[in-house]
Amino acid sequence: MDFYSSFRCISSHMKITIFIILTLCFYVGLSDRNPQYALTEVAEDDGNVEAFVENEQDPEDLEIFYPTQEWQVVKPGQAVPAGLHMRLNLQTGKNEAKLPDGQDGKDRPKQTHKSSTISDVYSTKELKEALAKFKGDEKLSPAIGKDYQQDIKQRFRPIEDLKKAFDDLNINVETDIEIMTKIINKFNSSSSTVEKVSALYDLEYYVHQVDNAQNLLKLGGLQLLINSLNSTDPLLIEHSAFVIGSALSSNPKVQIEAFEAGALQKLLVILAADQEVSVKKKTLYALSSMLRQFPYAQQRFMKLGGLQILKNFFKEKNVEPLYIRVITLLYDMIMEKMLLHKENNTGQYEQKYQQYNQINLLESIIEQGWCPIISDLLKLPENDAREKVLKTVMILIPHCRAEFLNDENLRTILNSLRKEYEGLAADELNSGEQDGYFSELLSLTISINDKLK
Ligand SMILES: *[C@@H]1O[C@H](CO)[C@@H](O)[C@H](O)[C@H]1NC(C)=O
Ligand SMILES: *[C@@H]1O[C@H](CO)[C@@H](O)[C@H](O)[C@H]1NC(C)=O
Ligand SMILES: *[C@@H]1O[C@H](CO)[C@@H](O)[C@H](O)[C@H]1NC(C)=O
Repeated sequence: MDFYSSFRCISSHMKITIFIILTLCFYVGLSDRNPQYALTEVAEDDGNVEAFVENEQDPEDLEIFYPTQEWQVVKPGQAVPAGLHMRLNLQTGKNEAKLPDGQDGKDRPKQTHKSSTISDVYSTKELKEALAKFKGDEKLSPAIGKDYQQDIKQRFRPIEDLKKAFDDLNINVETDIEIMTKIINKFNSSSSTVEKVSALYDLEYYVHQVDNAQNLLKLGGLQLLINSLNSTDPLLIEHSAFVIGSALSSNPKVQIEAFEAGALQKLLVILAADQEVSVKKKTLYALSSMLRQFPYAQQRFMKLGGLQILKNFFKEKNVEPLYIRVITLLYDMIMEKMLLHKENNTGQYEQKYQQYNQINLLESIIEQGWCPIISDLLKLPENDAREKVLKTVMILIPHCRAEFLNDENLRTILNSLRKEYEGLAADELNSGEQDGYFSELLSLTISINDKLK
């Protein structure tokens, strides 16, 4: 079981038990990345492998898993609520989850007097917040509820005790770079797609950390990943792009290296080709990580016709999941340039200013006819999506004014959004929330309406 070598050092049953408890205490198993999970630590049990699941920045994918006492398959894209038992079923290769023993849905806070689904207790937002809090201070989030916290406290020893117990066991945990070396070797030497993809799952977990992403460079892993974008196997392209996206994210050193190794062109070739939407989604993720805060790559992106490639999505069928990601990327790039003046006291300002000045993103957006494409997306039902679109419409008004003014549909949509958000914002105020989410959406809608008079 070389794949699980990171856990090889822990052998006795007791250690495994302690480890699982520790894992349950420490983490919210918030998985919106299945099956792109990362097996960080694993322990064998009845031929299955238990694992905890890390989350990935793919929040649009978030969908909730409803646990029961039985093991159930966690589907790709589902978020798993806190404190569940997770395992990888080796027979099926699927992730499964269930409520911990001795606990059924009714014990969960606030659930009894509502319906029987977890989604009533944990909204998507709460799940995200819960994860953020967990990572921050290792405390159970309020979203999980007092009863449940009490329950966990009684059931498990305090975390400090557990940490000490863990230290006393003198467990020799391998360093990240050792583990990464093994994973990269496995990826490089295997000829099986399944094995390569499983190595990529693991690698993706590690490269989120800035130091590990730089280890990826040192170990020659980045080049292997970029080469693998040339593969004819869509699964390999998809998962390589995913690791590249995570490694580049907010990591200028790796961004530059990947750019110089020709990753940008390859990503654009994949996005322009006839590929599955799952492949394009991860490739777009990699492209976004490449372009953010990297004006030189943005210039190149424009020269290579990248904007047109993204625009072609809006003519394709079944790529709707990409729309908001594209708009988000464009919005972020426009804002980057607009906010640059705030850096006029930093050393690199002049150079950056010159670079951003050569990117005619806004001009090209107008020329290519993006205005109606963007405003049309206000039809989308999700508030998160609408929020992005409203903000983008807002910054485009000075440039798209004529088109927006002539667009009857836009006017109708804005009016109906306004009504909807007036109601929701009033509810929000009534429940004592000042400056809430819907109030913000309402004021955005009103400002756009006013500016289009
Ligand atoms: C991958 O394997 C080849 C030989 O099969 C070797 O030459 C190369 O150095 C390896 N690359 C990495 C990054 O380990
Ligand atoms: C990958 O494909 C490109 C063409 O898309 C080609 O120029 C390049 O040589 C290929 N690289 C490898 C490592 O096969
Ligand atoms: C940056 O600020 C200085 C004054 O602090 C000003 O003279 C200069 O024009 C600004 N640069 C740009 C490009 O706006």
